[in-house]
Amino acid sequence: MTHDHDHDHEQDLETMYTQETWDIRYAESDRIWSGRPNQRLVEEVADLAPGRALDVGCGEGADAVWLAGRGWRVTALDVSEVALGRVREHALEAGVGDLVETLQHDLVAGGPAPGRYDLVSAFFFQPPPLLFDGFYRGLADLVDPGGSLLVVGHHPDDVATGVRKSHGPQLMFTPEQVVGILDPEEWDVVTEASPTREQVLPEGPATVRDTLVRAVRR
Ligand SMILES: C[S@@+](CC[C@H](N)C(=O)[O-])C[C@H]1O[C@@H](n2cnc3c(N)ncnc32)[C@H](O)[C@@H]1O
Repeated sequence: MTHDHDHDHEQDLETMYTQETWDIRYAESDRIWSGRPNQRLVEEVADLAPGRALDVGCGEGADAVWLAGRGWRVTALDVSEVALGRVREHALEAGVGDLVETLQHDLVAGGPAPGRYDLVSAFFFQPPPLLFDGFYRGLADLVDPGGSLLVVGHHPDDVATGVRKSHGPQLMFTPEQVVGILDPEEWDVVTEASPTREQVLPEGPATVRDTLVRAVRR
């Protein structure tokens, strides 16, 4: 029997965003991510006055803990309760347990998150392509006037270099796509870029390209 690739993709998308999938993935090892905050977060947020932040798809919490260390009150949101347990552990270890709250929520099946924030940051969250606009609009709606929406993803250029073999090329997105969902009457785009950085991937060291957008709500 031959495989129908489109069909395989559909099945992937059905299971790719569920709590079960991510709880299993996190439970497979003690730590998946580096434990260091994302470089683009540090670059974009270091000069902002702290307020309320939502870390979307926070994983094990390195970004949330870094933000809390700078005085932000952080809601760390993820579909995986296993990941959120690690966030709470790491926040306590770092002495910022009182500044980090965790929120288990499925942003694909369960709709937008609750609350209003001075910073909504989403790192490497690749929504299903058909839901892309609604997904990021839903996050933009959570930003209070004067606050920032910060979106970072894997740039589609990485497909051509072969460094992201395991990432579905159809899920990668450009800065233009993110800016395209923002109403120019309501948002000032302060960063729209596709910078590269050096990363050690399972295949070895590589130069990867990020999609990077920060916009401030008027
Ligand atoms: C690629 S990881 C990024 C983790 C972290 N932001 C980082 O930069 O290291 C994507 C995260 O999104 C979470 N996630 C996947 N599907 C989700 C959903 N439907 N709702 C909320 N979070 C989800 C996963 O559990 C995972 O922690």
